[in-house]
Amino acid sequence: MTSAHSDLPPVTVRVPGKLNLELLVGPLRADGFHALSTVYQAVSVHDDVTVAPADEWGVSVYGDHAEGVPLDEDNLALRAARLVAGLAGDPGPVHISIRKGIPVAGGMAGGSADAAATLVACDHLWDLGMSREGLERVGAELGSDVPFLISGGTAMGSGRGELLAPVLARGSYHWVFALGPGGLSTPSVYAECDRLRGSSPVPDPVPNAELMSALRSGDPHILAPHLVNDLQDAAVSLMPRLGDVLEAGMEYGALAGLVSGSGPTVAFLVEEVEAGIDLAVALTASGVVTDVRRATGPVHGAHLIPAPVD
Ligand code: C5P
Repeated sequence: MTSAHSDLPPVTVRVPGKLNLELLVGPLRADGFHALSTVYQAVSVHDDVTVAPADEWGVSVYGDHAEGVPLDEDNLALRAARLVAGLAGDPGPVHISIRKGIPVAGGMAGGSADAAATLVACDHLWDLGMSREGLERVGAELGSDVPFLISGGTAMGSGRGELLAPVLARGSYHWVFALGPGGLSTPSVYAECDRLRGSSPVPDPVPNAELMSALRSGDPHILAPHLVNDLQDAAVSLMPRLGDVLEAGMEYGALAGLVSGSGPTVAFLVEEVEAGIDLAVALTASGVVTDVRRATGPVHGAHLIPAPVD
């Protein structure tokens, strides 16, 4: 078994980042998670994850955003590979190489994306033939956003974000993402959200039907007023400069701006490609951000690609 395993060719999977078009945060549950109602969109900012048979378990990370990714057993991709290996009858260790394009600790689910990619890659490497639903179930054990990044597109998330339902969305939207400096930890942003809300009871989150019909229109002008993130005030409270970034983006022509997930990346919706280029240039020149990325969404979730040539 071991020699067959070590002869298997490496598998590479490309996986997108995400933003939340709507992130409604409900009450804190007994398990420490918050009840969510969210609408995810996968966007064309990618990580490439290569899984190869190896003598020992390991992970390495490359790219502009590599710093800050844990390389020990806390690494979500490594945990994903070990979980699938357990299901496959422990075929042997793998090494995981991650080429980062998704900002680290940015609120775009980079760690969850790598876990989603690793699940898909390991399923292929060991020829397990797992169903999409089976992969999503394993993904949910690793993180609330992992199931969505396996399927991608635009989808509604409930529960703690892991229960998915399809959303009918037309067209392609253009985004500009304002990055850094610094990152925010997801648990501390949720904790700040609770602190700001105080002791008053929080209702269960209810998805906004107007957002759903805006997505069916395919028109960014109609979508813009419905973008909402209940974690935004908490992210701005922990990192006040995000208020300046949001203000600058709107001043330079964005249709809407919102903190992406738990932040600190800020997502701006623009009308079309040219408007995105103009906004990216203006934000960079203003000095309120360290980096910008342009992207479109929705895009596909984790999918196999030919091995990268370096
Ligand atoms: O599921 P994930 O690993 O992304 O969650 C990271 C942390 O974010 C959780 O440990 C929890 O503190 C917070 N969280 C939450 N409610 C959710 C999702 C995440 O409180 N629905």
